[in-house]
Amino acid sequence: MATFKDRIEGLKGEFETVADRVKDAKALEDLKNKYLGRKKGLVTGLFEELKSVPEAEKREDGRALNEFKQSVLMKVEAIGVRLGRPSPTDQISNHPDLTLPGRLRYVGAAHPLILFQEEIERIFLGMGYTIEEGPEIETDYYNFEALNFPPHHPARDSWDTLYITDDLLLRTHTSPVQIRVMEKKKPPILVINPGRVFRRETPDPTHLPMFLQVEGLVVDEGVTFAHLKGTLEYFIHALFGEKIKVRFRPSFFPFTEPSAEVDIECIVCEGQDKSCRVCGGTGWKEILGSGMVDPQVFKNVNIDPEKYSGWAFGLGIDRTAMLAIGIPEMRYFYENDLRFLRQFDLK
Ligand code: FA5
Repeated sequence: MATFKDRIEGLKGEFETVADRVKDAKALEDLKNKYLGRKKGLVTGLFEELKSVPEAEKREDGRALNEFKQSVLMKVEAIGVRLGRPSPTDQISNHPDLTLPGRLRYVGAAHPLILFQEEIERIFLGMGYTIEEGPEIETDYYNFEALNFPPHHPARDSWDTLYITDDLLLRTHTSPVQIRVMEKKKPPILVINPGRVFRRETPDPTHLPMFLQVEGLVVDEGVTFAHLKGTLEYFIHALFGEKIKVRFRPSFFPFTEPSAEVDIECIVCEGQDKSCRVCGGTGWKEILGSGMVDPQVFKNVNIDPEKYSGWAFGLGIDRTAMLAIGIPEMRYFYENDLRFLRQFDLK
């Protein structure tokens, strides 16, 4: 008579043959019932019979029967997956445990320079200015000539840049947008133009070869230097608070006459450090250039300089942001160090 073990082996062989023929979910269900069904399942039946196996063989036979049952379960599971039914592990991951504590994901945020630019824009929007932008790749005409830099003018040297062709270049300032705006609109004009600019520059704590500027332009009848001074003082106090010290220093730009650069007190050393790398020990740091629009620039865009006057400014956003935050290095803004950047994520 066949031993209990022989019976398991026989059933095993038969199961493998039948299992390989299963082609659909119904056949799989039948297979499962045939072998594992609670009442009439063949494997279940063997467990009943195990009870009457002599004690000496029970342990060994029980182990063999359990192994067979596991292999039947695994095969049924594998066939289910082959037929496209999700496995129990898939089902668990499709039904997440909602009682588990959530995992915090870091959501990206606006860059601090963009947040600062928006702060500047809000102040000017509040004074009735509108925002216009211009291209980062400019022609020589808009970047230089229309702004009264004739070819070979020595002032071009301090605005040297990367040339794409003899005529196309990466703009060195946002001032070309002044020309584009005045070609399009007639006075009164009240506009700011933020954007990226490029220069041939060796990086240091307050100079970069790529940075942000915001240009401002006002043109109307009767505009004077007093408007320039009053507006810029109002703006700087709105940005830095009433206590900040501001000074206007005579300067030269080919496209404004008279011209002035504006300095604020050095927030990094507060004028106390003679070797300060931000202000060079002077206690002041230039943040913008400005002046009354040169009559020649008006002529270049067909605005009558006898009737209209105007003023303009160009502010370095990176440098101003650096002073507002009180950091000694403008390069921090571009190093992509999340420990630095996340300090400005106000979410
Ligand atoms: C200009 O770019 C003029 N277009 C400004 C102007 C506009 C004058 C309208 C008159 C009327 P300047 O090169 O000085 O000027 O630059 C203006 C500001 O940009 C500086 O005050 C400074 O804040 C910032 N800046 C200049 N060079 C750099 C640099 N390499 N890196 C970072 N910021 C800079």
